[in-house]
Amino acid sequence: MAERIPFLDLRPDAALARELEEAAARVIASGRYVLGAEVEAFEHEIARFLGVAHAVGVSSGTDALIVSLMALGIGAGDEVIVPAFGFVATPEAVVRVGATPVFVDIEPTSFHLDPARAATAIGPRTRAIVAVHLFGRCVELGPIEAMAAARGVAIVEDAAQAIGARSGGRHAGGLGRIAAFSFFPTKTLGALGDGGLVTTNDASLAARARSLRVHGATSRDDFAEIGGNFRLDELQAALLRVKLRRLPAVLEARRAIARAYAEALAGAPLELPRLSADDTYNPYVVRAAGDRDALRDRLAGAGVETAVYYARSLTEQPALAAWRAPMPEADRAARSVVALPVRAEAIEAVARAMG
Ligand SMILES: Cc1ncc(COP(=O)(O)O)c(C=O)c1O
Repeated sequence: MAERIPFLDLRPDAALARELEEAAARVIASGRYVLGAEVEAFEHEIARFLGVAHAVGVSSGTDALIVSLMALGIGAGDEVIVPAFGFVATPEAVVRVGATPVFVDIEPTSFHLDPARAATAIGPRTRAIVAVHLFGRCVELGPIEAMAAARGVAIVEDAAQAIGARSGGRHAGGLGRIAAFSFFPTKTLGALGDGGLVTTNDASLAARARSLRVHGATSRDDFAEIGGNFRLDELQAALLRVKLRRLPAVLEARRAIARAYAEALAGAPLELPRLSADDTYNPYVVRAAGDRDALRDRLAGAGVETAVYYARSLTEQPALAAWRAPMPEADRAARSVVALPVRAEAIEAVARAMG
């Protein structure tokens, strides 16, 4: 019986566990549990890492998207262009602020929104394009940037899967007008619960995001607009500060695993993600040349647990049925993608199963 290799194992090693416990103990003893010194320090540290002017800690990646759209003043009557393949939170945030998602099909090698299709989707009501840096790779913004600028359309980055990813020497989170990150535990920088971040280089957008996360407050007693409770708590911020210090090593390890997979799987009937020191492989997604379920069964037989991101294109989701439309590339991706464990011990087992 082959050794079982789980898709993910989020348990910290002993050294990390000790540091996390120390950070948690510090917060417990402080008596301050929401939006305090830990959140402030984390915001400064992560802004420095990302090379952005402003970072605003929030309650989740989904809330980071909602806050980003609200900070841009997007709401009823507005349209926001989103890719047809990805996680439901992206169009969900658009609908939650009262705007209308306009889905465009994807470019098949990157799985990202196709810039040519996005260009034709821009209309008089378009206020933003959400560039989802899916699978830890930055969207090629060049072609989108030019047309968005020409039409006064904001680029919002959904960087939930892309902490540490770069494009043209800049980090995800500093490529558009405003960006949303997730610290869901499975992310490359994962909290021990929920958390998120809004980043921007625009001081007025940052100030509005800061206000929106506490019910639109401008002071203790004044509420300028309807916001929400989108706060990041001190415990998660303290734990994230510990994990942020290890992030460069974690990113390097992920890239090394991608290089090893590329070598071990050369010639296998799979389309592998591109090899780039800019990408972070969160998750590491291959495309099966033949039957996806047969491939997953074969890997499971070799003890390798896999996952599927995502089994349906977004317009096929019942919650988004109002926007159902043919999206051939998104549908093809949904039928053929398989995520492999980003774990050194999986590489040989996968290569053997494919050999
Ligand atoms: C692309 C994308 N957008 C948004 C989100 C939402 O983040 P969260 O789960 O922190 O709300 C996620 C994560 O699950 C995601 O992968």
